[in-house]
Amino acid sequence: MKKVGIIGCGNMGGALARGILKKPSSGFRVGVYDIEKRKVSALAKEFKSLHKFSSLQALWDASDILIIAVKPQNIEGVLEKIKVSRAKLIISIAAGITTRFIEKRIGRAAVIRVMPNLAARVEESISALAKGRYANLSHLKIASKIFSCVGKTLVVNEKKIDAVTAISGSGPGYLFYFLSLIEEAAQKAGLNRKEAEILVKEMFLGSARVAEEAREDFLSLYLQVASKGGTTEAAVSFWQKNKLKSIVYKGINKALKRAKELSK
Ligand SMILES: NC(=O)c1ccc[n+]([C@@H]2O[C@H](COP(=O)([O-])OP(=O)(O)OC[C@H]3O[C@@H](n4cnc5c(N)ncnc54)[C@H](OP(=O)(O)O)[C@@H]3O)[C@@H](O)[C@H]2O)c1
Repeated sequence: MKKVGIIGCGNMGGALARGILKKPSSGFRVGVYDIEKRKVSALAKEFKSLHKFSSLQALWDASDILIIAVKPQNIEGVLEKIKVSRAKLIISIAAGITTRFIEKRIGRAAVIRVMPNLAARVEESISALAKGRYANLSHLKIASKIFSCVGKTLVVNEKKIDAVTAISGSGPGYLFYFLSLIEEAAQKAGLNRKEAEILVKEMFLGSARVAEEAREDFLSLYLQVASKGGTTEAAVSFWQKNKLKSIVYKGINKALKRAKELSK
């Protein structure tokens, strides 16, 4: 059994640990370390098979694969403590941290960079994986197996990871924001808060299911709702006239630019 050590048990590290621990057949043992002990204790209460470590060094020594799930600003501190002692696979999910940045600090190590998203919480993430200079296909295979415990995976060239960050990494945030605007408009249209909430949430979940089952692309699905002269077309043609397309492009370009700025 491969031993996976996760540094940082927050939103993402916690979701990953849960996803892996729920699938014992995946063949991974999970150990965790977080400077906030209560996060580790909460996970340990849920899963008896979880291995808790009281120091980063102890987790490092006991793991074959190390997943770094701390915030980007904390990564330097983590890397200082894990100078390579023997061949291990290092996986980082930190936004904007390149494999080169990690390799420079810990030497000729196999590093894989992964960009998951919030849906890892419900094992529905789409996680993009890119390998560093010293990682090979078998490392990619192991990393894909780990991240398939929290959803689907896609291997990309690392040059594309900033674009992935701006699309599927930030994407749940874009959708939630847009849905919150619809919810607000629903209340202005006369629905109460509860009604608006249930209508918008169920509409979103139902649409996601339709998109999942359908063979058509999003634009074709849109055309199935928007009949000529109807309500949907009335709203969308107003948005089109007011350059929604250009606003969406520009917003995503801002996210892309920010992802590039954060990359080090
Ligand atoms: N959230 C997302 O949707 C998302 C999506 C894709 C990628 N990511 C990436 O995932 C990473 C983690 O994000 P998150 O939202 O899970 O962050 P988070 O909830 O803040 O979790 C990070 C955890 O690591 C702990 N920590 C900090 N320094 C540590 C150290 N030296 N050793 C051990 N533990 C340490 C933090 O403790 P303190 O709180 O006390 O600092 C916190 O409990 C980030 O790099 C982010 O870019 C996140």
